[in-house]
Amino acid sequence: MMIRSIVRGVGSAVPSRIMKNSDFGSELETSDEWIVQRTGIRQRHIAEEGETTASLGEKAARQALDNAGLTPDDIDLIVLATSTPNNTFPATAVDIQNRLGMNHGYAFDIQAVCTGFVYALNTADLHIRGGMAKRALVIGAETFSRILDWSDRTTCVLFGDGAGALVLEAGEGAGLTSDRGILAASLRSDGNHKDKLFVDGGPSSTGTVGHLRMQGREVFKHAVGMITDVVEATFSTAGVTAEELDWFVPHQANKRIIDASARKLGIAAEKTVITVDRHGNTSAASVPLALSVAVADGRIKRGDLVLLEAMGGGFTWGAMLLRW
Ligand code: UT7
Repeated sequence: MMIRSIVRGVGSAVPSRIMKNSDFGSELETSDEWIVQRTGIRQRHIAEEGETTASLGEKAARQALDNAGLTPDDIDLIVLATSTPNNTFPATAVDIQNRLGMNHGYAFDIQAVCTGFVYALNTADLHIRGGMAKRALVIGAETFSRILDWSDRTTCVLFGDGAGALVLEAGEGAGLTSDRGILAASLRSDGNHKDKLFVDGGPSSTGTVGHLRMQGREVFKHAVGMITDVVEATFSTAGVTAEELDWFVPHQANKRIIDASARKLGIAAEKTVITVDRHGNTSAASVPLALSVAVADGRIKRGDLVLLEAMGGGFTWGAMLLRW
């Protein structure tokens, strides 16, 4: 027997304010038609004043705990994936820990931009399998609206705000792919690409927060190859094939990237969960938000084989296979 990190609950939170493509002012020289055709995005949620990465993360965490039938007392680890922390320090995970009224256990942030949630799940899985923690809250929460250059049409139409969370719990498995829980993962990064998607500010360089900058076409060019490479590595580690999958829950940056990746991997369109149309790209929140949508509407069920993947700034990229 071996320890497996099993998903026990899922939750999400989005700001109530919705911004549709038609809400961008004429000075931006964009259109609903361009945005839908090139990205699949129709709307995104935008945080109101006072709504933050910590408040959205807390909301998603509470929903995941309710869904699991647990309370903050039952949790001993919080891992938050974010690139838009409330403060440079302390970690926003510690802020969320405090908001949940937790004075025990430990909490920290992980920064891998859009791949953050896959990195965070993998980290929590290793803490659980290493015996450090029994139950972990793994959260992806972002307020990218605060780091966008709202005068740059090549980036500001693409992103949105939100949060998603999972509760992971230590369980037992036989070491087989029929086990519930996290089965395999593959993580990559390559800083050679750091100038293709970055924020042009930071505490140690400029002393400012900065704005998101992206060479979209360059990111697009690399995305499908990188995604399919880590997915195939994950399939190979686990010893499964695309046909055995029940659900594909990709990072939600661009529907064209999702469709091309699924096609190359031989994953049927009916198995692919798409939420980019309603959330835009929410970076580290996109995968857990998509997971919570597909669990809430009854698509993802206990025992299903689920593939996650993400790719983003750095570049960072990664994939994970789990049985729900
Ligand atoms: O989550 C992290 C990973 N990030 C991504 O995965 C993003 C990857 N990149 C993409 O999704 C796409 O490259 C974009 C959606 C950003 C852009 O789509 P594209 O098909 O690569 O378009 P492009 O950058 O080649 O731009 C085509 C044209 C350009 O005009 P010209 O040079 O052909 O005259 C742009 O200036 O579209 C223009 N354009 C726009 N037009 C209207 C760029 N942004 C807009 C806009 N509205 N918002």
